[in-house]
Amino acid sequence: MNIQVERGAADSYAGGLLLLFSFDSPEDWEEPLRKVDLKWGGFLSTLMKQGDFKGELFESRLLYTHGTLPVQRVLLTGLGKKSEFDLEKWRGASSKAGKAIRDSGTKTLAFPIKTLSTFSEEELSESFITGFILGTYQFNEFKTLDRDKMKQVDTVICLGKTAEEVKSIEKGARAGKIISEAVTRARDLVNGPANQVTPTALVRTCQDIARTHNMDIHVMDVGEAEAMGMGAFVAVAKGSHEPGKFITLEYNRDKGMETIALVGKGITFDSGGISIKPSERMERMKDDMSGAAAVIGAMEAAARLQIPLHLVGIIPATENLPDGKAYKPGDILKSLSGQTVEVISTDAEGRLILCDALTYSLRYQPKAIIDLATLTGACVVALGDNVTGLFGNDDDLVKRIEEASKKTGEKVWRLPLWDEYFDYIKSDSADFKNVGTRAAGAIIGGVFLNRFVQKTPWVHLDIAGPASIDKDQPYVPKGGTGVGVRLLVQLLRDWNKV
Ligand code: BES
Ligand code: ZN
Ligand code: ZN
Repeated sequence: MNIQVERGAADSYAGGLLLLFSFDSPEDWEEPLRKVDLKWGGFLSTLMKQGDFKGELFESRLLYTHGTLPVQRVLLTGLGKKSEFDLEKWRGASSKAGKAIRDSGTKTLAFPIKTLSTFSEEELSESFITGFILGTYQFNEFKTLDRDKMKQVDTVICLGKTAEEVKSIEKGARAGKIISEAVTRARDLVNGPANQVTPTALVRTCQDIARTHNMDIHVMDVGEAEAMGMGAFVAVAKGSHEPGKFITLEYNRDKGMETIALVGKGITFDSGGISIKPSERMERMKDDMSGAAAVIGAMEAAARLQIPLHLVGIIPATENLPDGKAYKPGDILKSLSGQTVEVISTDAEGRLILCDALTYSLRYQPKAIIDLATLTGACVVALGDNVTGLFGNDDDLVKRIEEASKKTGEKVWRLPLWDEYFDYIKSDSADFKNVGTRAAGAIIGGVFLNRFVQKTPWVHLDIAGPASIDKDQPYVPKGGTGVGVRLLVQLLRDWNKV
C-alpha cells in the first residue's frame, strides 16, 4: 500500500473519497470535520440530529456529496464516546473504515489526521496506518479463482494542515507502515502451508531480509548442530526428511550496543511425532512456527526503523514428524547446556528445540532474552485465544513487556514460575523430563525453559492462543495474526527510554 502525506484541507480535497471520523457528539468534532460540515451545508450535523448516523464506535456510512464538496464520496466512520477513546479503538475504527473502502472498490482515499487533540499527529497517523493495513490484510496467494474480483486499496493520502503537522504525520505513518509490513510478513509465513513454509523457506526469507537490511546471518544444518552438541534440537529434526535449520540473524553486530536476543519456535509442522496428535484440527499445526515468524518480523522492522540495539534473532526450525529416525518416548537427550532430558512426549517438542536455542543465545551475553512460542495447548485453556502467557525471571523485563503490551493492545498475562513446579518434571533416569502431568501445563513449559537461561533476564511468551484465530477481530482478520511483532518492536523502541 502506498502511503502519501500531503499538506491540504479535507474540505478542498478533490479526489474520489474522503474518509472522516466522528465522535458520537458534534461538540467533539475537530476543525476538519466542522469545516466539511459547514461547506456541506450542515449535512453532517443534520444526519446526527436525525439519528441517521450516531457516531457509534465502528459505525460506517458511505455518502455522496453531489457537488457540494470537491470530493465525490465521503465515508463516515464512528469513534463512539470521546471520553472512552484510545489508540486501540482508533486502530479498530481505521480498520473498519479500510475494509468498507476496499469493499466499495475505491483505490485511493484521503483523510485529515487531526481527529483528537489529546493524541499527537504522529501517534494518530502511526495507529491509523497500522489499523488500516492490518485490518485490510488478506491471504490470497494460493487462490486462483476469481482473482479479478479481489479488491485492494492502493493509496492512502494523509492530510495535514501545517508543514509541521505534515512532518509529524510523515514520521508516524512511516513507522506504522514499517511495523504493519513486518506483521504482514509474519502473517504470510504463518498462513503459508507447511509444504511451502519449510525450514529451508524460512532460511530463504531470513537471507532476503539480511541482504536487504544489512544483517549478518548464520545457518547451521542438522549435522553442524549435532557436532555442536544440540542433542535436543537434533532429536526433533531427525524425524523429518525436510532438513532442519538453525538460523541466527544479527543486526548491529560489533557496534558496542546493548544486546537483546529474540528466540522463536520454528516448528513448521507439528504432527506430535511418535506421540502423534489427533487428526482433528491438526492442520492448524502449520502455525507452530509463529514464534519464528514474530522474531523475523520484529528483526526486519527493527532494522528498517534503525533501532540502536544489537539484536540477535535465533530460530530453531524443523518439522516434528513420526518416522523411522524419529525420537521416541523414553529417549534421553543431551542438550547443548549439558543437562539431560527424558522424553515423555514427543509432542512437547517446542521446549526441546528452544532449550538448545536459549543455551546458544547465552554466547552473545545478552542483556535480555525474549522467546516466543506456540508452546502449550494448556496456555489456551488457561487464558483463551486472545491472550499471551507471560513468564519471566526478572521483574524489570516483565514490566517492560507489560508496558509495551499496553501500548500495542496485544494482551499478555503473567503466570508464575515457582520452584515447587519443578517437582512435576523430576525424572528417575535423567536430569528432568520434558512434560509433567496434565496440571499447570503452560507453567511447566516455562519452568522447563527456565533451566536453560541461567541468570540472564528472560521472558517466555506462550502465544499458542493468539498465534491464529478463528474469528475476525477489529484489525486482526481470522488466520495467522502475526502476534508478538508489534509487541517486540514496541519493547525495542522503548528500550533506551526507561
Ligand atoms: N504446538 C503444540 C502446542 C499448541 C497446541 C499450539 C494447540 C497451538 C494450539 C505443542 O508442541 C504441543 O503439542 N504441546 C503439548 C504439550 C504436552 C505434550 C505437555 C500440548 O499442549 O498438548
Ligand atoms: Zn507438539
Ligand atoms: Zn509444537
